[in-house]
Amino acid sequence: MNSISDDPLYRDPSLAQFYDSANRWGPDFDFCMTLAEGAQSALDLGCGTGELTAALATTRAVTGVDPAAAMLDIAKARPGGDKVQWVEGDARTVRLGKTFDLIVLTGHAFQVFLTEEDQRAALATIASHLSPTGRFVFDTRNPDFQGERDVRHSSVRRLEHPELGAIEAFDESHYDEATGILSYENGYHVLSTGARFSGRAKILYTSRDKLLSMMEDVGLAVEAWHGDWDGNPFHAQAREIIPVGRLA
Ligand SMILES: C[S@@+](CC[C@H](N)C(=O)[O-])C[C@H]1O[C@@H](n2cnc3c(N)ncnc32)[C@H](O)[C@@H]1O
Repeated sequence: MNSISDDPLYRDPSLAQFYDSANRWGPDFDFCMTLAEGAQSALDLGCGTGELTAALATTRAVTGVDPAAAMLDIAKARPGGDKVQWVEGDARTVRLGKTFDLIVLTGHAFQVFLTEEDQRAALATIASHLSPTGRFVFDTRNPDFQGERDVRHSSVRRLEHPELGAIEAFDESHYDEATGILSYENGYHVLSTGARFSGRAKILYTSRDKLLSMMEDVGLAVEAWHGDWDGNPFHAQAREIIPVGRLA
């Protein structure tokens, strides 16, 4: 089982502080909120800074799990953060001794697992925490989406940080078709002070067919495959692979 301790983007507070500016509420969180209707309990695996976690917790019992203390510190401090049970833990190994009506793993957190062994372990964690009628959803980028096939990619965008002001954020990535691993660097330049921060990480791309076979092996059944967070069906060239399912 790999260690993720060398992934600074979430572990290092000086980088984690930019996460919310770079990743805002979107259709993924809307989708999860709709799926949560009627659920009395929810588990957010890889909850990060906890924006969705806290929103889910307004009307139900919610646990958020993440191994990165820097991300959890932001999560705990957000409005509504006091309603969530935060657990510093690893989605591959955590066992909470209870089950949930909804389990989510958003923000492509599934792609941080770089080996099949780690992916299976995370899927087994989902299976072992689902209530008999509980549902799960997660997202992983489709390796066959045309736009993801650029072997090299770079971009720069302007963000607004609530305390630091204008930020220039850049990312640079390299995709290895042979392994399905994308290596990337995220950087932030605080325009008012000139301070610069950057960190590197890796994510794994997995095909829908491989995902399906791993999910079947751990006892998960998929009810719907979506190709984006607007709820459109998955197809070979879809941007995302988003399974929604239950225990088999
Ligand atoms: C891209 S962020 C997604 C955060 C959040 N789910 C969202 O949608 O904004 C990926 C998260 O996965 C977490 N992560 C990394 N390794 C993990 C592991 N082994 N188990 C659970 N979470 C992990 C990171 O710390 C980070 O918070």
